[in-house]
This record gives sequence, structure tokens and C-alpha cells, in this order.
Amino acid sequence: MEKKAELCRGKAKSVYFTDDDDYLIIEFRNDTSAFDGEKIEQLDRKGMVNNKFTAFIMDKLEDAGVKTHHVKLLSDEEALVRKLDMLPIECVVRNIAAGSLCKRLGVEEGVDLNPPTFEFFLKNDALHDPMINEYHIRSFGWATDEDIKEMKKLTFQVNDVLKKMFADAGMLLVDYKLEFGRFKGELLLGDEFSPDGCRLWDVETREKLDKDRFRQGLGGVVEAYEEVGKRLGISFD
Ligand code: ADP
Ligand code: TMP
Ligand code: ASP
Repeated sequence: MEKKAELCRGKAKSVYFTDDDDYLIIEFRNDTSAFDGEKIEQLDRKGMVNNKFTAFIMDKLEDAGVKTHHVKLLSDEEALVRKLDMLPIECVVRNIAAGSLCKRLGVEEGVDLNPPTFEFFLKNDALHDPMINEYHIRSFGWATDEDIKEMKKLTFQVNDVLKKMFADAGMLLVDYKLEFGRFKGELLLGDEFSPDGCRLWDVETREKLDKDRFRQGLGGVVEAYEEVGKRLGISFD
């Protein structure tokens, strides 16, 4: 598949057209962004690690019956994906309180959420990705009733699969963000699943192994991502 013009350059990935209208090439860059682009740094190897990490997770999800945009890895930093009509919505499931939930509701980080909670956010950096509800989504036409139902179902299905997978590798899946899009009338999981878009803690020490290391200036960011990958059996060589 031939790489054509750039379709969009996001904060951490670039997306390219191909010679087939149904497919895109996603390039994972080393750019690491936090606070909606306020803090950006280049972290060596991060593009490669997140590309291979995402491919591994997408394959696991496909095996579990969750349809995704992923087709195949093309190189260390590039993957071939189906071209989705993305919904401007971020779906977040939280198993443990952290991040914006703690700030918003004044709860302590680390509190177990039983049952896990679900939140929608509008994908809009200029507005700092505000939290929205189903009524906003319907009123502004960001997605249909059916999409809303499907996004919730799929996001919780991902939780069932990945919570267990990370637990088996000695980690807690604290929370994560998913993005969906339409492909030939069907809603598919798009974008990425990597430690850039989720929180993972060591089950024993509760050490942070995700992008909070970057947000909080803890260092060892890519080393932590590689440690997570190693525990899952992902090869980064
Ligand atoms: P951003 O700066 O928007 O947060 P990224 O740097 O991750 O994001 O850029 C990737 C962009 O590509 C995002 O806007 C995402 O919604 C979009 N995208 C991800 N997967 C697909 C896909 N399969 N088809 C079309 N667009 C996609
Ligand atoms: P939050 O606690 O900042 O709301 O984030 C919840 C989870 O979603 C966390 O794992 C990080 C992820 N996330 C992103 O990847 N990108 C985003 O733009 C937002 C708002 C959250
Ligand atoms: N995903 C957002 C950014 O890249 C927010 C964050 O991760 O803190 O800036």
C-alpha cells in the first residue's frame, strides 16, 4: 500500500492517505503531549513502542470479538488501518479513581470504583476536552442513540478483556480512553491503545507505568512503557 498525502497531523501521530480510499497509514511519532498540548517533548523510541503496543492490544481485542481499525504493522512506527469517520468523542472507563475524576469530585487517588464508571468527553483541545453527557451528544448530533449504546457496550467489553490481561501480568488497569469511528456503516475502535491513553499501576507497589510519569515529571517514561510491554510479552526489538 503506497503512502500518499498527509490527512492530519495530531499531537502524537500523523495520518496519511494511501492509494486505497478505505485505508490510512498511521505514523506514531516520538512527540509526547500532555495537558492538551501545553507540554510537548520528544521521547526516544516512544513512537515505535506505542505502535507495536497498539498493534498487540488491537489484535487481542479482535480475538475477543471487538472490531477495530487495525489491519497490520507496516514498520516500527507505522501501521495500516481502516479509514474511519471518527466521532468527536472520547470514551473513558475508570476502575480506580485518578486524574480529572479526583480533581472534579475531590476523591482520593486510588479509590476502587465498584462498579467501574464511564464518562464521555468532547474531543476538543481548545476547550480542554470538556466532559459531556448523552443529551449533549444527541442535541448536537455528535453521534446517534445507537452509536452511544454501542460505544458504551464496546468500551466495557474492552475493560473485561484488558483488565484481566493486565492483571495476569501484574498490573492494574486504572482507566483508559477509547475513540470510535464509522467504517461502511459499522462502529469500529480506532486511534490507539497504549500507555499514552490509559493508566497502569504495578499491582504490588502501585508504581505508575503510564503517561502520568510524563505529566508529573517522574522520568523513565518510555522505560515504563517498555516494562509494561515486556510483562505482556510484546517484543520491541
Ligand atoms: P490528537 O492530537 O488528535 O489527540 P493524535 O496525535 O493521536 O491525536 O492524532 C491521531 C488523529 O487521527 C486523531 O485525530 C484521531 O482521531 C485520528 N484517527 C485515529 N484513527 C483513525 C482512523 N482509523 N481513521 C481516521 N482517523 C483516525
Ligand atoms: P483524565 O483523568 O485526564 O480524565 O483521563 C482519563 C483517562 O483517559 C486517562 O487514562 C488518560 C486518558 N485520556 C487521554 O488519553 N486523552 C485525553 O485527551 C483525555 C481527556 C484522557
Ligand atoms: N491527551 C491530551 C494531550 O495529549 C491530554 C493528556 O494526555 O494529558 O495533551
